[in-house]
Amino acid sequence: MTKPRNDTFLRALLRQPTEYTPVWLMRQAGRYLPEYCETRRRAGSFMDLCRNPHLACEVTLQPLARYELDAAILFSDILTVPDAMGLGLYFAEGEGPKFERPLREEWAIRDLEAPDPYGHLRYVLDAVAEIRRALDNAVPLIGFSGSPFTLACYMIEGGASDDYRTIKTMLYDRPDLLHHILEVNTRAVTDYLNAQIESGAQAVMIFDSWGGVLSHRAYREFSLAYMERIVAGLKREHAGARVPSIVFTKGGGQWLEQIAAIGCDAVGLDWTVDIAEARSRVGNKVALQGNMDPMALFASPENVADEATRIVEAYGPGSGHVFNLGHGISQFTPPANVTSLVNAVHEHSRKLRQTAA
Ligand code: CP3
Repeated sequence: MTKPRNDTFLRALLRQPTEYTPVWLMRQAGRYLPEYCETRRRAGSFMDLCRNPHLACEVTLQPLARYELDAAILFSDILTVPDAMGLGLYFAEGEGPKFERPLREEWAIRDLEAPDPYGHLRYVLDAVAEIRRALDNAVPLIGFSGSPFTLACYMIEGGASDDYRTIKTMLYDRPDLLHHILEVNTRAVTDYLNAQIESGAQAVMIFDSWGGVLSHRAYREFSLAYMERIVAGLKREHAGARVPSIVFTKGGGQWLEQIAAIGCDAVGLDWTVDIAEARSRVGNKVALQGNMDPMALFASPENVADEATRIVEAYGPGSGHVFNLGHGISQFTPPANVTSLVNAVHEHSRKLRQTAA
C-alpha cells in the first residue's frame, strides 16, 4: 500500500479525523494560470493537451506548485468519453465544446457502444499513470467522469444548451431511447472509472453538472438511478487502499438525502446550499465537498479569506468536509486570491479543531 504523505483529503472523504480541512478546487488547472495558457499554446489546442499524457501531467501539477492543495485532479475532460464513442468532439473558439455528430437518429442511438477504456481512452489512463509517478505520493490523485445524464446532454444537444430542449423532448416523447443512451453511458462510465482506478486514481468523482435542470421526478429516473449503478459497480479498493467516490449534482441541493443514499462516500454541494443544514441532513452518512461561490474569488484577498472562513465555520468542528468551490474556478480569477483562500481554510480549520478539543 502506498499511502500519500498528505492523505488528509482521503481521510476527510471517509470521515476519519484530520488535523485541518483539506482543499482542492474544481478546474484548478485552467486558464486563470498563465503557466497553463503557456503549456496549452505549446500543445496546440485543448484536446491536444488532453491527448498528450506528458503535457496533461505537466498542467495537473501546476496548481500544486503554486498552492498548498491537498489533492491533484487528473487533467482531462468529461467529454473524452462521447468522443471515444465516435461523436467527434471539437472546441470552437469562444463557444465551448461541440460534437460533429450529435446523437439524434434512432439508428445511431441503437448503434451506440460503450468504448473499451484501454482502447480509444488509453491516453487518459497513460496520463493517470504518469501523474502518479510524478506526484511520488505527495498528495492523492482524483480521477473523474461525467454522469450518464450530463454526458447525454452534450451528446444529444451537440454542445452547451440553455434550455435542454432536444434532450428533454426525447425524455418526454421517447423515454425508451434516452434510457438506452443512459444505459450505454453507465457501462462506459463504470468501465472508464474502474480503469482510472486500476491506473492509479485514488478517489473518483462523478460530475452531474446538469442533473439539476431535471424535474423532481425525472432526476431520480434519468440521473440518480444511473449514478447509483455506477457507484455499485466501482472498485472499492485498489492496492490495499479504499478508493472513495464523490457524487456532485450541481443544483441538487433539494435531493441531498437521496444522493447520500446511493452508496457514495461524499456528496458535492454547489454554493446555493447552507452547508450547516446539509451536514445536519446527511453528515452522519457521507462527507461533504464544497461549497464556495466561485465568484467570491473576485473580492479582495481579505474578503476571500473571510468568505472561506465562514464556510469552514458553518460546517463546524470535526472531520468530513473537503473544501472546494461550488463549481469550476473562473478563467478570470486573480491567481493570488487562491493563495488567500487555501491559507484561510487551512489556518482557520486548524484553529477550530484546537478550540473544539
Ligand atoms: O478540475 C480540473 O482541474 C480537471 C480538469 C477538468 C476540465 N473539465 C478541464 C477543462 C474537469 C474535471 C472538467 C469537467 C467538465 N468538463 C465538466 C464538469 C464540470 C463542470 O464544469 O460542470 C463539464 C460540463 C465539461 C465540459 C467542458 N469542457 C466545457 C463546458 C468546457 C468549456 C468551458 C469554458 O470555460 O470554455 C470545457 C473545456 C475545459 N475543460 C477547459 C478546461 C481547463 C477549458 C479549455 C481551454 O483550455 O480552452
